Amino acid sequence: MLNQKLVDALNEQISFEIYSALIYKAMQAYFAAEDLPGMANWTNIQFQEEMAHAEKLFNFVCEAGGRAKMLALNEPRNEYESPLEVFEIILQHEQIVTGRFNTLMDLAQQEKNHAAQIFLQWFITEQVEEEASVGHIIAQLKRIKDDGRGLLMIDQELAKRVFTPIAAG
Ligand code: FEO
Repeated sequence: MLNQKLVDALNEQISFEIYSALIYKAMQAYFAAEDLPGMANWTNIQFQEEMAHAEKLFNFVCEAGGRAKMLALNEPRNEYESPLEVFEIILQHEQIVTGRFNTLMDLAQQEKNHAAQIFLQWFITEQVEEEASVGHIIAQLKRIKDDGRGLLMIDQELAKRVFTPIAAG
């Protein structure tokens, strides 16, 4: 069973994941308009992953006896200066997400809820991978600077990403 403090914190994270999905969808629209289909694909997969994260949290709250609730979302940013700016914003955003999961884990430890700690471990591991993959793309974008051919090569690479469903609950 989850106590109300944990239910409230997990509910906030469900909506934050959906908000993250919204941010990625806005970025996909920017890349589609910029004729960068690989980056549009990459951000669309990120959108799907964030929705899957929300679903995983939602299922856990329900299964652990909590009452899941949806909260209001902010409008995401829709305009960007460059692909590099987008990926730098993504890294900053994912660092915020990592901090939120660390805080959730601290709370689960304080409340001595072992099931929540085991559940949250998956997200903490996932965040390491998320930050690393975005950091890699940023490094590549910095290396090519304003070289259009280099940008197209990165775009083609990001076109290969596919969505892998995650285990729910
Ligand atoms: Fe749901 Fe990108 O973390």
